[in-house]
Amino acid sequence: MTDPLFDVSGQRVLITGGLGQIGTEFVRAFQSRGATVYVASRSVTQDKLDAHFGDSSGLVPVRFDVTDADGVRAALRDIADDGGPVTTVVNNAGLDTQPSAPPEVSGPFEDFPVDVFREVVDVNLTGTFIVTQAAGSEMRRADVAGSIINVGSIYGMLSPVQDIYAYRAEQGQPFTKPVAYSAAKSGLYNLTRYCATYWGRHGIRVNTLTPSGVARDTQDATFQANYTARMPIGRMAEADEFNGAAIFLASDASRYMTGANLVVDGGWTAW
Ligand SMILES: NC(=O)c1ccc[n+]([C@@H]2O[C@H](COP(=O)([O-])OP(=O)(O)OC[C@H]3O[C@@H](n4cnc5c(N)ncnc54)[C@H](O)[C@@H]3O)[C@@H](O)[C@H]2O)c1
Repeated sequence: MTDPLFDVSGQRVLITGGLGQIGTEFVRAFQSRGATVYVASRSVTQDKLDAHFGDSSGLVPVRFDVTDADGVRAALRDIADDGGPVTTVVNNAGLDTQPSAPPEVSGPFEDFPVDVFREVVDVNLTGTFIVTQAAGSEMRRADVAGSIINVGSIYGMLSPVQDIYAYRAEQGQPFTKPVAYSAAKSGLYNLTRYCATYWGRHGIRVNTLTPSGVARDTQDATFQANYTARMPIGRMAEADEFNGAAIFLASDASRYMTGANLVVDGGWTAW
């Protein structure tokens, strides 16, 4: 039997970037606890959900680009008109630059292209604003309570540690972890606080969930070793290790919490 404090069954949960590495785990976490999960992605279909998740019961594909305000509004309106607004949003879609990125997007700060800066801010910050605005508007229109969870990053709380990436120069492919992701993710904290205070009396809670780096098969072993050496808990995260925080933030267990930043980072920001 589910602890009522952490019960999310019956909720209508929108997860953006729901086919990505962490998004997939968020979807499974809410699905397995009896929520209807609207899996948002630019190219999702029911067939893709079937193939990706195997069991796609309770999952509904929703297609939009988070930077397309009209498309997002229309999708959130359609959901609301068909049974009520979403009650939890996980703003998880994001755009980051990996160490394998080409030099034109990972060169020195002095050369970082303005158009790439705009693109990354557009997805990570403006896209979160667009989805939050549309989802919150539908919650208000129906006068229902809800929870909005904005997925931040330790690189939005602190600057990236560039030393971790120095090995790329030794391999003849210098890499500077770019500024755009950090600047965009950092903007989420005050987007969260603003919306939390704006909607506080209406039962719409807004919090940030801040993860640290997740291990991926595609990562360079040197990168993983350097990252792990800086990580107090002694390893990178698994993609499902933010599920507990997401369920907490979506459920009654966090009913007095809004405007906050829940950090799940293996201790990275504790140094
Ligand atoms: N993986 C990590 O190490 C890590 C660490 C800290 C924070 N995060 C954050 O966690 C979230 C999920 O990260 P992930 O590692 O699973 O990333 P991922 O790249 O696997 O998934 C991100 C998803 O966002 C989608 N997306 C990108 N641009 C979009 C757009 N314009 N419209 C709609 N969807 C779009 C992508 O298609 C992808 O499915 C991101 O917000 C990321 O910044 C990740």
